[in-house]
Amino acid sequence: MGRYHGRSTTVLKPRTTQEVSEIMKWCNKRRIGVVPQGGNTGLVGGSVPVDNEIILSLSNLNKVRSFDPVSGILVAEAGCILQSLTDYVAPHNHIMPIDLGAKGSCQIGGNVATNAGGLRLLRYGSLHGTVLGLEVVLPDGTILDQLTTLRKDNTGYDLKQLFIGAEGTLGVITGVSILTPPAPQASNNVILALPSFDHVLPLYQTVKRQLSEILSAFEFIDRTAYDLAVKHGQGRALSEEEVDGAECFVLVETSGGRREHDEEKLADLLELLITADKPLVNTGVLSQSPAQFSSLWALREGVTEAVSKEGKAYKYDISVPLSSFKDVVDGTREHLRSKGLLHDKAVKYVLGYGHVGDGNLHLNIVADAYLPEIQDALEPYIYEVVALHRGSISAEHGIGAMKTHALPYSKSATSIALMRKIKAVFDPHGIMNPGKVLELM
Ligand code: MLT
Ligand code: ZN
Repeated sequence: MGRYHGRSTTVLKPRTTQEVSEIMKWCNKRRIGVVPQGGNTGLVGGSVPVDNEIILSLSNLNKVRSFDPVSGILVAEAGCILQSLTDYVAPHNHIMPIDLGAKGSCQIGGNVATNAGGLRLLRYGSLHGTVLGLEVVLPDGTILDQLTTLRKDNTGYDLKQLFIGAEGTLGVITGVSILTPPAPQASNNVILALPSFDHVLPLYQTVKRQLSEILSAFEFIDRTAYDLAVKHGQGRALSEEEVDGAECFVLVETSGGRREHDEEKLADLLELLITADKPLVNTGVLSQSPAQFSSLWALREGVTEAVSKEGKAYKYDISVPLSSFKDVVDGTREHLRSKGLLHDKAVKYVLGYGHVGDGNLHLNIVADAYLPEIQDALEPYIYEVVALHRGSISAEHGIGAMKTHALPYSKSATSIALMRKIKAVFDPHGIMNPGKVLELM
């Protein structure tokens, strides 16, 4: 992001859980802050020190401990890269239940610590459901071994849930037991060009009805996001004719058991959409090969990279009702215009993309530089809009360092007070990832 900077002098790279435990004991005694760091791909500054904390890199804890091809349960160390785990389970015809644009560098421990959402949540649900067990080193060095491989374990408080999404503020995740689903026999995708955003909702309803159990992703990019992705060479651009008059695009993915059956369903859907009396889409481009499948996905997954190549990004990852996605994006653009900030030397683009199926909008503001006047125009404006919709200020990216001050827009005072009590139970000296999730007192 180029937005968060610490001034740490020390990175430690332990190779075993025991070494993590010794480091934590040592730091706890001396009240030294520790920032656990995975692939460092987060978007809210959660893995960047706020001061001179020690950075605890998990990248050397990178072994698969076990995989059971019958149950699909994988036990891996925290530093395993998500893509490597995908490659590891692939020959056994399994996939990881989570997938995201950063898969080539993000690590499973970081994914779990941040409760990353990503592109498969619609189909496989969140990590709160797919993670079966965790091994965590607590701030005082105690190793909490809850690395079970049980589908069912209804024995009182489910402590692991507290570490999922705690962003390293309660302990260091060193091992993860996770349920990997069977690989679909066939995956297809299609990118649909829509004449108006108003068509997204009815389209989603139609697609759900027509594709039912084989629908595995329904992702949205607005025209600005599409144009930026193409400008920065992400994925395969559609022809001029195909994008003509399109206000936004939707990428639909199917994952099912029989290729012919799924292809037929998708082709029928496309025909229905295009030949309807009032067509919901202008056109649709179906992938015809694995390379095209990846390149259609790259248009959507590549927006993040395109945005950061274009300039400095203010990123808001919010949950709001789907029907308000466009109003939120347009409203923000108008708000910036009214403040005189929409021009070449300040804000260049306001764009929206995200996970429609999960009600999760990524609202990005791309500027020439990070400027205080832009920041002041965006906040609390955006958080107030979210609160008005009873939405979430962070749908999937977490709180990190970026949103600690904004937590009250999504959590009540009672909730925050309880979170502080829980933090004090696990980390009484406040050494774990200080200044993240909860503001420093
Ligand atoms: C995405 O959905 O592409 C990611 O959450 C990253 C982003 O918001 O840019
Ligand atoms: Zn996302």
